[in-house]
Amino acid sequence: MSTDHPKTPIMEQELRTLEHEASQDLERIDTANGLEEFRIRFLGRKGRFSAIMEQLKSVPKEDKPRLGQLANTVKKQVEQAFSDKKDQLASGGGPTAAQATAVDLTLPGRRPERGKLHPITQIMTEVCAIFESMGFSVAEGPDVEQDRYNFEALNIPAHHPARDMHDTFYISDSILLRTHTSPMQARIMEQQDPPLRVIAPGKVYRCDSDITHTPMFHQVEGFLVDTNVSFADLKGVLSVFTQKIFGADLPLRFRPSFFPFTEPSAEVDIACVICNGKGCRVCKKTGWLEILGAGMIDPEVFKQVGYDPEKYSGFAFGLGIERIAMLKYGIDDIRLYYENDLRFLSQF
Ligand code: DAH
Repeated sequence: MSTDHPKTPIMEQELRTLEHEASQDLERIDTANGLEEFRIRFLGRKGRFSAIMEQLKSVPKEDKPRLGQLANTVKKQVEQAFSDKKDQLASGGGPTAAQATAVDLTLPGRRPERGKLHPITQIMTEVCAIFESMGFSVAEGPDVEQDRYNFEALNIPAHHPARDMHDTFYISDSILLRTHTSPMQARIMEQQDPPLRVIAPGKVYRCDSDITHTPMFHQVEGFLVDTNVSFADLKGVLSVFTQKIFGADLPLRFRPSFFPFTEPSAEVDIACVICNGKGCRVCKKTGWLEILGAGMIDPEVFKQVGYDPEKYSGFAFGLGIERIAMLKYGIDDIRLYYENDLRFLSQF
């Protein structure tokens, strides 16, 4: 309890005023001289704090401990504010240690890094969109496939020499990792009757690895079955596709080839996108780049899935997404796509 002695409330009031004014004065100070003046005025031997403390002598004994404690707190606070200001001026007027660690809620937040689609996913999406615009629907199938769909139904029976080309990863005698997306032809045809217009994108696997091969890569299979489908229809669909994906009216070339599940079969080349057909390192001076395999679906495949080959005809094609991406972006090592180096991936 404080006494009614007149000195007690006055001294208390003066201490609080001093604390308030000292902090206001300090805020305005921006030179060492100004700071020294402040020190003398408030904390010096003949300064305001000392003057107030003089009064402590004349307050009643029972008020002394309380007022002494208050005076101490005020003094410590003014001294701390003074030394913070001194540090601040010494460090060229920057923030004090206390200010520097304070959270400034007005600062803009840190932007989270935005992810991007992998370049292969981007090309895959683009390829699918082009075929969808021509009325193809998209179907997906299993990566772990039966020998029956991967080979047998596609007119590649056991011991057929064409199996050698596939470098198959076998899981058991009859189960394997699909070596191409062509098994989707058999899977879909087995379930649906013509007319059919389907693309099947997905991962495929082959035991092969060098600058143009990775053990896992992506293909898009396409096939169309109806009555009176001709090779000209195949050529039309593929011309539209290459024009859209490479963004130019590129000449196409169909080279006779062989696939057990198509007859006749062809490999399709586009004029080299790097040298415009003049001949360069990428096209090995031929002026042409192979981009896909295609052909008219072999009657033997139709028989396997229960279609009447006399009634229906169709074409099929299969293209490698990594190859298209390499040509489109001018990349000569396929392994770059799968090393997950963000410096590479973030360019697309
Ligand atoms: N499946 C073949 C491969 O991976 C590519 C292919 C060629 C697919 C001709 C087809 C086709 O549909 O008609 O090598």
